[in-house]
Amino acid sequence: MTDTTTTNESGPVLQIRDLSRRFGGVAAVSGIDLDVAPRETVAIIGPNGAGKTTLYNMVSGRLKPTTGTLTFEGRDITGLAPHRISRLGVSRSFQINNIFTEMTVRENVEVALTALHGWGKRWFNVATRAKPLQDEADTLLERLSLSELAHKRAGTISYGDKRLLEIAVVLATRPRLVLLDEPTAGMTPQETKRVTALIKSLAESGDYTFLITEHDMDVVFGVADRILVMHRGEALVVGTPAEVRDHPEVRRAYLGEEDEEDAEETAS
Ligand SMILES: Nc1ncnc2c1ncn2[C@@H]1O[C@H](COP(=O)(O)OP(=O)(O)OP(=O)(O)O)[C@@H](O)[C@H]1O
Ligand SMILES: [Mg+2]
Repeated sequence: MTDTTTTNESGPVLQIRDLSRRFGGVAAVSGIDLDVAPRETVAIIGPNGAGKTTLYNMVSGRLKPTTGTLTFEGRDITGLAPHRISRLGVSRSFQINNIFTEMTVRENVEVALTALHGWGKRWFNVATRAKPLQDEADTLLERLSLSELAHKRAGTISYGDKRLLEIAVVLATRPRLVLLDEPTAGMTPQETKRVTALIKSLAESGDYTFLITEHDMDVVFGVADRILVMHRGEALVVGTPAEVRDHPEVRRAYLGEEDEEDAEETAS
């Protein structure tokens, strides 16, 4: 197997240049520039329709940009197919349908790990008896605080735990850039708190670089090193949480209007 873990530590992990995407007459994303440094957690926020998901889909390859370039670890990935981008080390969370419900929590992580090691499904039973793989599965389950649920069938665990398992499966592919699209969407306040704390600890471990889209401002300000605020497809401001919080335009365009709505959404 080729070693895919080598990173260019000096340069940005992800470089977004003048990225745009139009849908007919709608400029969903317009001229976005962003550098994401190694081990950084960048959150993309903005009101509904701001272009967050469109931007995210271009990074993961689901959508082709109308203009602009995407560079991952110095390599041009603009317009590459999703599986190719993922193979290069960019992993995105899918919805829960990424999980095998009939398998145990642990087996789900092991399958992802065997795929990584190139053993394939046929070798699953043999491969999962290998000590290094077991250790890696244990470590991941521990990091996502899923150890106690390891032997439960994935279909039977709570929604919040399923989302955590989904993140464990994503991390099992050893990505160097992790894209999480609204990781706490649909969660109860308790689940949101727990998942936020876990993402924060993963981010602080320095093992990953995260790009997160999220509506929940507690989550955003809790985990992000920097925040890109989008408004009508454009970048309104990029800065630290403190810079963004105090930015008058941001308050007007977003935080001020939506604070209350967000609080209600989180509580429902
Ligand atoms: N497939 C599509 N076809 C046509 N227009 C689209 C498509 N996807 C997005 N748009 C439009 O592009 C704009 C940005 O949408 P996008 O989904 O990226 O916003 P968002 O910031 O993710 O919003 P939300 O917070 O609601 O998830 C919106 O005006 C939306 O209607
Ligand atoms: Mg969206």
